[in-house]
Amino acid sequence: MGILESVTSTKSTHSPGRLLVVSNRLPVVFSKDKKTGAWSSKTGSGGLVSALMPVLRDRGGVWVGWPGVAGDDAPLNSCLEKLSDETGYGLEGVYLTDDEVEGFYEGFSNEIIWPLFHDLVSDCRFSPEHWQAYRQVNRKFAEKVAEVHEPNDLIWVHDYHLIGVAAGLRRHGVSNRIGFFLHIPFPPPDIFLKLPWRDEILGGLLEYDLIGFQTMRDCRNFQRCLRALYRVNLRGKGQVQSLNATPLSSDAGAPETKRLRVGSFPISIDFDYYNNLASSKEVADSLKALHLTFGDRLMILSIDRLDYTKGLLQKMRSFRRLLKEHPELHEKIVLSLHVVPSRESIDQYKNLRIELERLVSQINGRWTRPGWIPIHYFYQSMSQADLSAYYRRADIMLVSSLKDGMNLVAKEYCASHPHNSGVLVLSEFAGAAAELQTGALLINPYDIDRTADRLHEAAVIGDDDATQRMRKLRRKIKRHDIYHWVNSYLNAIAGRDLADFPKIEDYVPGPPPTGQTRQA
Ligand code: F6P
Repeated sequence: MGILESVTSTKSTHSPGRLLVVSNRLPVVFSKDKKTGAWSSKTGSGGLVSALMPVLRDRGGVWVGWPGVAGDDAPLNSCLEKLSDETGYGLEGVYLTDDEVEGFYEGFSNEIIWPLFHDLVSDCRFSPEHWQAYRQVNRKFAEKVAEVHEPNDLIWVHDYHLIGVAAGLRRHGVSNRIGFFLHIPFPPPDIFLKLPWRDEILGGLLEYDLIGFQTMRDCRNFQRCLRALYRVNLRGKGQVQSLNATPLSSDAGAPETKRLRVGSFPISIDFDYYNNLASSKEVADSLKALHLTFGDRLMILSIDRLDYTKGLLQKMRSFRRLLKEHPELHEKIVLSLHVVPSRESIDQYKNLRIELERLVSQINGRWTRPGWIPIHYFYQSMSQADLSAYYRRADIMLVSSLKDGMNLVAKEYCASHPHNSGVLVLSEFAGAAAELQTGALLINPYDIDRTADRLHEAAVIGDDDATQRMRKLRRKIKRHDIYHWVNSYLNAIAGRDLADFPKIEDYVPGPPPTGQTRQA
């Protein structure tokens, strides 16, 4: 069922109100003409944008976010107005100063919450100045939303940069329904409770009407953290539960009980888009070029943003181990390693790049022979057509995240194999492992030797086994695509029955009970 049918055809006597989406970045790509200095813009192409676009157009709506570039507000605003006329929904910019970008985005969001929520406490820089910047920018976002909202709007805030927006809105007297979706994992209490601003972050989350997590495990981690500071009552056993939270201690008078709903909503991709693109003429041309380059060699594909949560160094070490242990694969296998530049102003990211490139060059230096380079390394973004061609050409996709909210690359890879070919080797620490555990070959990316064994297993897998696995994966992703995700979240926040949205089991890390893959 398409999103328009299910979300907008619900029998209701009153209009559902507009949708107001709030995210750190606007779904817009800006570019500046080098000669004239004039700005131009176009909408981004991600799955979230395509999924929300029909709802925004149909119900009417506004997307509020940071344009992501430094520049004068006036020309960027006029770009956004022009673009709004084309897209059919409003685009409202929240402009940040250089100091705000440093303290709020690079500092609190990406040097505190990002590592902490990915279980990497020792990478956190707990700076009170960053916390102040985070509060200030969250207030700024809340002011903008308060200014553009209408009484019946449903407000949907996205991700870890903006946890405090609902609290800011409540202070402005905004009583609309406000939902939150966390795109990254939620850590367990022994990690989360180290955060000096844990009370404020949990308190901020409790101002929402519905908090969506990627997996059941994230949702349970949140509940466990909450229990450290609140008396918690939970009702319901399904995908979404009702929760009452009363502070265990309160400085001022009788403690106030917060009532909200929490649930897991695994985000997904536009399956049909990737499936169709993989068979398109445009991709066929790129595929031909790839066949010329790689011939019959087995291709392992790796595509990640440059981020220390993606396990890039571990991936290199496993590939090195594979080459060491299996000389028979020399000249027959290549790793196509695509790293997308990200957060380049942050030191940890700069250092990771240096270390990664050192490893790539060591491996290539050791094993390259005339006519064969083991690792083809790219540090650049890719067009959608090239991405699709690589997905389709790759015999093996290797996702080695040390921790990941979901990992959509894993799902895009499967959707790009219309003939059920290809093998997905997937980290058990990616949120996607909960849904894809029965079709993927799972790895613990820290276990270099076993990951190398898994890669070997993927390299020699029988066609029938591979096809069966890929069929399962594709079926799952098709059923739970991005439209299903939007529908289930919007239905949940509207208080509708979610019986149609089956609960997705957790993947529990550890050795599988029998055989090689844990069965659900
Ligand atoms: O996965 C979390 C996320 O914030 C995504 O929303 C985003 O695409 C990615 O990380 C990169 O984030 P950014 O470049 O905005 O820091």
